[in-house]
Amino acid sequence: MAIATTLIFFLVILSASLHLHTNTVQAQQRRQSNITLGSTLTPTTNSSWLSVSGLYAFGFYPEGNGYAVGVFLAGILEKTVVWTANRDNAPVPSNATLVLTSDGRLVLQQPQSQDTDIENLTQPASYASMLDSGNFVLYNSDHNIIWQSFDHPTDTILPGQILLAGHELFSRASETNYSTGIFRLSMQQDGHLVQYPVSAPSYTAPYSYWASGTNMYGDNCSLHLDGDGHLYMLNATGTTNIKNLSDAEPTKEEKMYRMTIDVDGIFRVYSLRRTLDPKEKWSIWWNSSFDKCDPKGLCGLNGFCISNDTEAECRCLPGFVSVDPSSWAFGCVRNFIAESCKIKNGDSNTKYYKMSSLENTIWEDDSYSVLQLSSRKECEDACLQDCNCEAALFKDQQCKKQRLPLRFGRRLLSDSNVALIKVGESFSPNTEGVPTRSDNPPKKPKKELRLDILIIGVSLLVFSLMMLAISVFDVSTEKVACCIAAYVF
Ligand SMILES: *[C@@H]1O[C@H](CO)[C@@H](O)[C@H](O)[C@H]1NC(C)=O
Ligand SMILES: *[C@@H]1O[C@H](CO)[C@@H](O)[C@H](O)[C@H]1NC(C)=O
Ligand SMILES: *[C@@H]1O[C@H](CO)[C@@H](O)[C@H](O)[C@H]1NC(C)=O
Ligand SMILES: *[C@@H]1O[C@H](CO)[C@@H](O)[C@H](O)[C@H]1NC(C)=O
Ligand SMILES: *[C@@H]1O[C@H](CO)[C@@H](O)[C@H](O)[C@H]1NC(C)=O
Ligand SMILES: *[C@@H]1O[C@H](CO)[C@@H](O)[C@H](O)[C@H]1NC(C)=O
Ligand SMILES: *[C@@H]1O[C@H](CO)[C@@H](O)[C@H](O)[C@H]1NC(C)=O
Ligand SMILES: *[C@@H]1O[C@H](CO)[C@@H](O)[C@H](O)[C@H]1NC(C)=O
Ligand SMILES: *[C@@H]1O[C@H](CO)[C@@H](O)[C@H](O)[C@H]1NC(C)=O
Ligand SMILES: *[C@@H]1O[C@H](CO)[C@@H](O)[C@H](O)[C@H]1NC(C)=O
Repeated sequence: MAIATTLIFFLVILSASLHLHTNTVQAQQRRQSNITLGSTLTPTTNSSWLSVSGLYAFGFYPEGNGYAVGVFLAGILEKTVVWTANRDNAPVPSNATLVLTSDGRLVLQQPQSQDTDIENLTQPASYASMLDSGNFVLYNSDHNIIWQSFDHPTDTILPGQILLAGHELFSRASETNYSTGIFRLSMQQDGHLVQYPVSAPSYTAPYSYWASGTNMYGDNCSLHLDGDGHLYMLNATGTTNIKNLSDAEPTKEEKMYRMTIDVDGIFRVYSLRRTLDPKEKWSIWWNSSFDKCDPKGLCGLNGFCISNDTEAECRCLPGFVSVDPSSWAFGCVRNFIAESCKIKNGDSNTKYYKMSSLENTIWEDDSYSVLQLSSRKECEDACLQDCNCEAALFKDQQCKKQRLPLRFGRRLLSDSNVALIKVGESFSPNTEGVPTRSDNPPKKPKKELRLDILIIGVSLLVFSLMMLAISVFDVSTEKVACCIAAYVF
């Protein structure tokens, strides 16, 4: 048993050192506090400029089939991108080059195509610097800041970075795609910090799904994150704290923090212990919402959200199927072809349609007609008889006729609302709705993990053979230990 423990111990050390090794080989980064004119980066060699402490890097990181340019955390394996340049541009191939040109511009060059500016400068830069705060800065010849990534946040703010009035954060499209996603966090001019789906027709209260409640503080309020995880808002003069969001973390450990509006529309303060272990992971210090169904539009059009204590799940309306099972946000479409709706004498729509129901779900109320009806059956009939009616919401004797698509649906057991959906005659009822996808897309196992498994597999084989040798040939344990040493080193 002691031998087994020793062997496993050695294997853990061995695989950990392999991890570290691959990490340093892949990094290919240079620590360079002041980046001079004429400096270049390419995706595969000299791919980024490190901050002095080596914590943050500015440069190329892999995205999709190519590379994007941004600021990311260099010290850990968990990929953490805190800023992306031109986030909605397509990734570039490995023959692209990032140049701080001799005339003081920072441009992305690709063979046979036009240069892309990383930022629009009003005057030429003299040098650049990747600061340990995570801020990438360009200076003029007077050493004044002429551009900084902190002024152009994407989905994250770091300690010391301020979200000013009139500025917004946008979630990214997916965990691996840093393009603009479907949720925004807006520091409004009226002092209100508010979250909306990007698809909202207007940025007004009915479309918001989270708000700080600080609209009475007037214009130019701002959002701040401190180095201890404290997230709060200040009034226009920057002197008065008007709202505490997260508390400072009472900890003696050295930790780093970031605030990110995540792909799922919730914004969170994360903390990371500052150790030398590259496998350290971010943990959640604060959430803007506990219910993952809060973000409106998470499930797309004609989809609705069901949450248990930990996860959210999207389903389609009865008679609908998911547009793209790999992404909820695309919503659902009818799985039948709508017959033309004509009501002749005595004939009725019921020939082609019937109503299917969905209990305890709430939706955006966009009704074109509201009827006072005493029963659900009457509401169903009213919708069936009306060619324009595609769904109806029935609650408290009110029958609200709707046209498709239905938006912002979610299950709310405390709400007695019933959604009545017009479906094809042949539709077999499934009042629970159809899951739009069973789970998150399967994660591809990492190559490093496979290497580990290989090592462990081979080792176990070797180990079994040794144990066999012990039992069959009665080899002394010293010899076995010697063999293990030979194998490990
Ligand atoms: C970077 O350049 C500025 C201006 O020339 C200088 O003040 C500063 O000391 C330089 N920093 C380092 C670490 O060399
Ligand atoms: C990376 O940059 C260093 C310093 O400028 C340079 O000496 C080295 O040749 C570069 N490596 C490659 C592969 O371009
Ligand atoms: C990333 O998301 C954007 C916006 O949804 C989309 O247009 C783009 O095709 C996606 N890129 C990749 C590589 O999937
Ligand atoms: C650059 O890479 C892209 C994509 O791999 C390729 O299509 C293009 O031909 C390359 N250009 C040059 C000049 O090598
Ligand atoms: C720079 O300005 C141009 C024109 O207004 C705009 O199209 C481009 O997106 C801007 N680039 C950046 C990096 O902001
Ligand atoms: C808010 O900022 C704008 C632009 O900087 C300024 O014109 C305005 O006076 C400010 N309002 C207050 C109340 O500080
Ligand atoms: C910010 O708060 C301070 C203290 O309450 C107040 O004196 C100041 O007028 C406020 N500033 C604005 C622009 O509301
Ligand atoms: C926020 O918390 C700080 C202490 O951390 C306190 O001084 C301040 O008054 C609080 N602000 C509000 C609006 O409650
Ligand atoms: C944040 O929410 C997650 C679930 O979404 C929960 O597990 C976690 O405990 C919450 N964290 C805090 C600090 O509230
Ligand atoms: C919540 O739902 C997820 C996914 O549907 C499931 O894996 C998990 O076990 C559920 N948790 C609870 C507490 O029901």
